[in-house]
Amino acid sequence: THEDNFLQCLYTYSHNSTSISKLVYTKNNSSYSSILQFTIQNLRFASNTIPKPLVIITPKEISHIQTTITCSQNHGLQVRIRSGGHDFEGRSYVSDVPFVILDLTNFREIEIDVEKKTAWVQSGATLGELYYKISRKSRNLGFSAGVCPTIGVGGHISGGGYGNMVRKFGLAADNVIDAHIIDVKGRFLDRQAMGEDLFWAIRGGGGASFGVIVSWKIKLVHVPSIVTVFTLPKTLEQNATKLIHKWQFVASKIDENIIINVILQRANSSKKGVSKKNSTVLALFQTLFLGGVDKLIPLMQQNFPELGLVKEDCTQMSWIESVVYLYGFPKGESPEVLLNRTLAGKDIYKVKSDFVKIPIPEIGFEGIWPMFDEDGGKDAMMYLFPYGGIMDNISESEIPFPHRYGNLYQTHYSVHWHQENDEVEKVKMNWIRKLYSYMEPFVSMSPRTAYINYRDLDIGVNNKNGYTSYKKASVWGVKYFKNNFKRLAKVKSIVDPLNFFRNEQSVPSLVSKG
Ligand code: FDA
Repeated sequence: THEDNFLQCLYTYSHNSTSISKLVYTKNNSSYSSILQFTIQNLRFASNTIPKPLVIITPKEISHIQTTITCSQNHGLQVRIRSGGHDFEGRSYVSDVPFVILDLTNFREIEIDVEKKTAWVQSGATLGELYYKISRKSRNLGFSAGVCPTIGVGGHISGGGYGNMVRKFGLAADNVIDAHIIDVKGRFLDRQAMGEDLFWAIRGGGGASFGVIVSWKIKLVHVPSIVTVFTLPKTLEQNATKLIHKWQFVASKIDENIIINVILQRANSSKKGVSKKNSTVLALFQTLFLGGVDKLIPLMQQNFPELGLVKEDCTQMSWIESVVYLYGFPKGESPEVLLNRTLAGKDIYKVKSDFVKIPIPEIGFEGIWPMFDEDGGKDAMMYLFPYGGIMDNISESEIPFPHRYGNLYQTHYSVHWHQENDEVEKVKMNWIRKLYSYMEPFVSMSPRTAYINYRDLDIGVNNKNGYTSYKKASVWGVKYFKNNFKRLAKVKSIVDPLNFFRNEQSVPSLVSKG
């Protein structure tokens, strides 16, 4: 069988390196399930009906990765690369064709150079591990990347990486200065050896199309010793609609040291201060300010007096404490929790996203609120994440991530449910798709853009097997990458012309027809 031949190939090739056999899990191995499940974040892709890998390999050495790539090509198996397993559509561990998983869970080293303000971080490390280790070296260094600590560095950076310091320092991918990749021929390449085109492509173009990125050299950023946070909940009775409307004019223009996120959810009428009547939606205004409260208050009074922020609403803390707090822990929780790799509550969900360029009228928001009262809208969330700041000054083609000047904010819609159930799934899926179509007149158009790290297979997919034309792939590709999609396809055609590294939304090769 494919599997036997593949395994034999692995063992033959790797006889010189530390034995790979202890790092290989087939379905007969008692740890297969726990290794597979460990980083599956979206339980929609964990059930028995979902196709499973023939083999999981958890390499410890570069040669193990090289051997896996060679042997899977020789024996007609697809490879799925997994770092943190947070892909919203499970693409790092699910495929419809026979496949193996290359799971980088053992590639987790982090080396920090405080003097040079740089770090080398391996793809299998989590953001939480990275943030924590940086903070142990210096109170004044941080990294600009996502909010959830269990996200893997590998998938996150290769898809962009949006977080609370994005308005000041840009995306995670904007802060990469070197990388190590293993290509389809099994070659180990650094920035110089891979060349600027491939180095460009992996910083936001989705790594899985180009090779296995083993590690990244990143620029650390300066954070002040004291930052300030606040979370202000506002109900509809407290003018949430008007505040959100105004927020649209403020959040992308205000000082780049402030990020004000808005989280919208169904109001829990048992919560204090929220009456049962007219209680559909609660808006949380959640902020990180890179500075002390004495500077924040006047800035807010000048730019967003309607929010009525006062000193008592704010808490000063270190940057690493703010990472813990803004993820959702109570104030005072120890930063060590960031090392917990099973922190994020697993769930079943579906996510979609949009970009907003023109402020939405109040009436537009008012049309959304009743949807949160429908069955599908229970356990739904809508996040509004502001742009502007340095994001306006980076050109659309600097890296593949094209959503820069002109975007006021990004939206992230999600529905959650807690038990596998076809009926429930149908209700939830219908709800989020209805919301998405309701939003159409208010968001970016031609193309209606999306963020690859919020992967959404609804926007288009490749053929299951082999060749997908550039035209067909453009249906989803242009939404994620706009004009950069063409250049990504050109890079792909050079580095992986036969389209070995592929998935439902991988960049197509312009060469491969077979
Ligand atoms: P995973 O291992 O699933 O990989 C994702 C994709 O990258 C797959 O296609 C995979 O094959 C590929 N890949 C992974 N490692 C690779 C490697 N070493 N080489 C080549 N290809 C590789 N995003 C954001 O920008 N800001 C945020 O705040 C959040 N918050 C958030 C919270 C939660 C709870 C979830 C589940 C997700 C997010 N995200 C996010 C989205 C997240 O950034 C996105 O899913 C990343 O791709 C996840 O990276 P992982 O390595 O964890 O995923």
